[in-house]
Amino acid sequence: MASDELQRFMDELRARIPIADVVGAKVKLVKKGREYQGLCPFHNEKTPSFTINEAKGFYHCFGCGAHGDIIRFEMEANGLPFMDALQKLAHQAGMQMPHFSKEAKEEAEARKSLYEIMEVAAQYFERELRMPDGAEGYKYFTEKRLLSKEILQKFRLGYAPNNNGLMAHLKAQGIDEKDLQELGLIAIPEDKSRKPHDFFRNRVMIPITNKQGKIIAFGGRVMEKIEPKYLNSPDTPIFNKRRNLYNLDKAREVAYKEKKLIICEGYMDVIALDKFGFGYAVAPLGTALTEEQIMEAWKVCTEPIICLDGDNAGIKAAMRAVDRVLPILRAGYSLKFLFLPDKMDPDEYLQAHGATSFAALLNKTKPLIDILWQKYTENEDSSTPEKKALIERTLLEEVNKIGDGTVRNYYEREIKNRIYTTYKQSSWKNPATNNAAAQSPNQPIKRPVLNHNYNAERPQVENENDKMIRFIMAAELIYPELIDDYEEQIYLDEIKNEKLRLLQTTIADTFHEQEAAINGDELTELVLNTNAGAILKTLWEKDMLKKQAPFINDLRHDIEKLLQEEKRRSIEADIKKLTEKVSAHFDEEVYMELMALKKTRDEMLIKAENFGV
Ligand code: UTP
Ligand code: MN
Repeated sequence: MASDELQRFMDELRARIPIADVVGAKVKLVKKGREYQGLCPFHNEKTPSFTINEAKGFYHCFGCGAHGDIIRFEMEANGLPFMDALQKLAHQAGMQMPHFSKEAKEEAEARKSLYEIMEVAAQYFERELRMPDGAEGYKYFTEKRLLSKEILQKFRLGYAPNNNGLMAHLKAQGIDEKDLQELGLIAIPEDKSRKPHDFFRNRVMIPITNKQGKIIAFGGRVMEKIEPKYLNSPDTPIFNKRRNLYNLDKAREVAYKEKKLIICEGYMDVIALDKFGFGYAVAPLGTALTEEQIMEAWKVCTEPIICLDGDNAGIKAAMRAVDRVLPILRAGYSLKFLFLPDKMDPDEYLQAHGATSFAALLNKTKPLIDILWQKYTENEDSSTPEKKALIERTLLEEVNKIGDGTVRNYYEREIKNRIYTTYKQSSWKNPATNNAAAQSPNQPIKRPVLNHNYNAERPQVENENDKMIRFIMAAELIYPELIDDYEEQIYLDEIKNEKLRLLQTTIADTFHEQEAAINGDELTELVLNTNAGAILKTLWEKDMLKKQAPFINDLRHDIEKLLQEEKRRSIEADIKKLTEKVSAHFDEEVYMELMALKKTRDEMLIKAENFGV
């Protein structure tokens, strides 16, 4: 705990200096209602998630969790030692630094930034590994995992004893218990009668660094067969496990040079790879690979190799990576996959077969499209036309998730080609035309045009919601199977126009009433004979669309796009409402909700840009 005089002085500084002044000197801030917003200085971002609460005197980043007051900002963002931070702030406030008592002065000099505390902790664990208490850990690394002294030093491996030694060591240096808790180095039991204790106990320790090589977290492994095998630091103001990649600081230089990057599953895999000469390996941090991590990896290598065990868990992990990466694929950027034989991880493989053998495997990676293909075709029953159709449809739906238009287009062609050759279809008949000439999947894809020139007989459709629903209904009357696809997505109360609502309900009901399958023209006929028939007659979009003989998947694509736009409009409306609410009366919860909405909106905008909307 800080001594009274130090505490009083810090309170005085906080009271006198507006936090916006301190942060504003480094970060461009924009006033939003009662808050300020800016780009977070603690992580890379393009849309601001860093905010300042003037009244409470703290900053908070919704992106990476960075959090603190003016003093912490000077220490973490500007890298000042505690005493220098106080000095600078005192000067800014026009105050004299008081003459602290000897104790207060010593305490102030010992104050450390969160990064420094992690560094002290890492040094402590390294030292303990070489102590008699750490002998077991040392043996584990050197004899069981066959790591050399050089590797121990390079990765700064350590040992956490079972005696709360870290807490004692750090407290003796004047470090606040609060900081230790915030960094996840100690655990405070909920049961208040029990004392705080070290978070990592009797484990070998693996420090986790950020891109600058500063220690931000730890992974600790038990030496016996106990669960959980690894314990990882929780997310803290300096550690976000979704954004960081283990070993990226060391791997990135090698990766640039070699134009290769391996993403494997575990810490020990990265270390083993380095030991065998593959210095360009990284790993996620106890979670499945995230979008943020893929983007980080792309900054150093355009096609990282995901290296996994060939067992079920490895294949599942690959599939998850496919799901993550499709929406963010860009021209020139992808992932490659390497499955190791015999359920081995890279560490085990290298110990068993050596570096040359592994290097050979690195040349036999599979491209992303193979994994996608495998995911939806391998072990799939394709014995009937319906089953083949299902496979095709599922694959094309996946391809549709690709955000980048150009990349999506090439995937679509390649997947259609594979379907064609694999399932031996003799022709690609387009059901919307009676034209018997087969259309090859290699022909340029014909796309419906969404912007029409209205002529006098056609009713003007100005309202965006009307336009969307009219287009969807026109599509449904060409391919009735679209009705089932979108019925749930267009909730009836989202159709603002009553007449159109009646028409859509009638189309869907009529379709569902039929016992046998009917085609679009038959459905149109039936609906014309209902009380919605008159409305249907004004749906000129149907004939217009039919003339273009669209493929069903192209229509799906256009409908998705329209639904996205509609969603965007509704989000914009909500943002407007919440913004008004927050600026009238600030409420943290509403504010967070607003931030989340804006994030969704921004993501949609980025996606829409790629769609060319
Ligand atoms: P693995 O279970 O594949 O272990 O976990 P490993 O990397 O082969 O470890 P060794 O070789 O037995 O030492 C892969 C990664 O998953 C996270 C860790 O990041 C680990 O490196 N993990 C695993 C946890 O966070 N907690 C666990 O209990 C297990
Ligand atoms: Mn392993």
